[in-house]
Amino acid sequence: MRKKIIAGNWKMNLGALQVAQLTEGIKHGLEKTNPKYEILVFPSFVHLHMTVEIFRETRVKVGAQNFYPSKLAAYTGEISCDQLKDFGIQYVLIGHSERRQFLLETNEFLNKKVLHALSEHMLPMLCVGETLEEREAGKTFEVVKEQIHKGLKDVPLEEVSRLSIAYEPVWAIGTGKVATPEQAEEVHAFIRQEIQSLFKPEIAENMSILYGGSVKPDNIAELLAKPNIDGGLVGGASQKADSFLALLK
Ligand code: PGA
Repeated sequence: MRKKIIAGNWKMNLGALQVAQLTEGIKHGLEKTNPKYEILVFPSFVHLHMTVEIFRETRVKVGAQNFYPSKLAAYTGEISCDQLKDFGIQYVLIGHSERRQFLLETNEFLNKKVLHALSEHMLPMLCVGETLEEREAGKTFEVVKEQIHKGLKDVPLEEVSRLSIAYEPVWAIGTGKVATPEQAEEVHAFIRQEIQSLFKPEIAENMSILYGGSVKPDNIAELLAKPNIDGGLVGGASQKADSFLALLK
C-alpha cells in the first residue's frame, strides 16, 4: 500500500518559542485532520527533543532535516543516524535543493546518504527537482532522471521499500509559484516509471512520491487529486499551525 504523507519542513526558520507555539497549535487541531494521511514534521536538530516530547502519544511523526552518513565517529558538528534513533527518529530528508545549492551536496554524496540511511533502517525521503533554467531548457526529465539514478545507485531491492521521493521543482520552492497539477503529475508519473525500471513494478506502485513547492491550503486538494501525487512536502505553509492544519484537513 502506498503511504500518503503530508510533511512540514521547518528548515532553519523557527526559534524555540515559535516551535513551542507551532507544535502546541498543531497538537490541539489534530482531531480535525484527515486520518488517511500520515503527518510528519522536520524541525531543526536543536528542536527535535522538544518536538518529539510534545508530539509523544499523538500520530505526528518527527523526522530530521539532515544527518551525516557515518556511524558514531569524529565528525565535528555532524549528527549520526545512531543519535537520531535515540530520539525514535526514523524519517530523514536527503537532497533538498537548499542542501544541493548552498551546501554543495552532489548526487554522489546524496547516494552515500541514501545507502547509509537505509542500512541504518531509517526512512529516507529523497528530494529531486529541476531549476527554472533547466525547465526552460527542456531538461526537466533529464535532470530528474539523473538525480534518481545517481541518488539510488546500488540501493538493495530488499531495502528500497523504505524510501520515499519528493519532487520539488526548485523554481516553485518558497516562490509562491506552484507547479500546475498537470506539470507535477507528469514528473511524478515519470519518476514512478524510472523507479520501475530500476527496481520492480510493485516497488514503483507502492512508492510514495510527494510534491513540494509552494503547497498551500488553497492548492493542495487539486495536487493530491492526481493519481501519482501521494502527499506534500511543505515549507512556508507548514510553519503556522493554522495553515498546516488547513492542509491536513
Ligand atoms: P515551500 O517549501 O513550501 O515554502 O515552497 C517547500 C520545501 O522546500 O520543501
